[in-house]
Amino acid sequence: MHPNMLLYVENDYGALSKKAANLFADRIREKPAGVYGFATGSTPLGMYRELIKIHNADFLDFSKAVTFNLDEYFPIKRADNQSYYHFMNENLFNHINVTRGNVHIPDGEASDAESECRMYEIKIQQAGGIDCQILGVGANGHIGFNEPGESFGADTRVINLTEMSIQSNSRFFNSPADVPRQAITMGVRTIMMSRSILLICSGKAKAAIFRDALCGPITPLVPASVLQLHPDVCIVADKEAASLLP
Ligand code: GLP
Repeated sequence: MHPNMLLYVENDYGALSKKAANLFADRIREKPAGVYGFATGSTPLGMYRELIKIHNADFLDFSKAVTFNLDEYFPIKRADNQSYYHFMNENLFNHINVTRGNVHIPDGEASDAESECRMYEIKIQQAGGIDCQILGVGANGHIGFNEPGESFGADTRVINLTEMSIQSNSRFFNSPADVPRQAITMGVRTIMMSRSILLICSGKAKAAIFRDALCGPITPLVPASVLQLHPDVCIVADKEAASLLP
């Protein structure tokens, strides 16, 4: 593993969630007005629950934080209960004192998706760049919705989801036919510009892709492998996800 990567292996998902939340809370305390990148998916759910607990118990203050989410389905209505907008409100933002005007999530309702993507990049730059980006890994190694084969040089843009991602995300929808075919996602370059990254990975099903990402060749075929080139990556995994690491 690359020396710039710091890895914590926790016993189980509960411990992983606590560890990741504590590490992230430390970042917020160090820089309350920092810029923070959030992720969706099932992996960060436990971490978000823990952050809410820390907010309530120790008054972890989010009021000055600026947030940018990695991605959003396209097209999708914000009010749709499968939108990442809805996900973030339900699972985190409604339960902490984040300032609504500081929250950024790509707009799945945008009439001009290309200009939405360009504006998203500009807003990140105007905010001073992301201090710490939370990341999960898709079953095929995707980060955000950067699917295998996408360029490492890509900025925020509209992408076509792979069949694997559509199938994998269909568990949240009534049927695979209901899953949007496209998404707006930060590009790999956007993610790599973040000053630090907090990667979380859980479960046996992710063990092989987790090993490939951390220890395999750096290739767009495994988008998460690009993180080996990032100067400051902190990784929290559970034993199952880490079980195939050398
Ligand atoms: C979606 C998100 C990714 C996330 C991935 C993994 O595809 N766009 O950002 O990392 O799901 O999801 P899970 O954590 O449920 O395995």
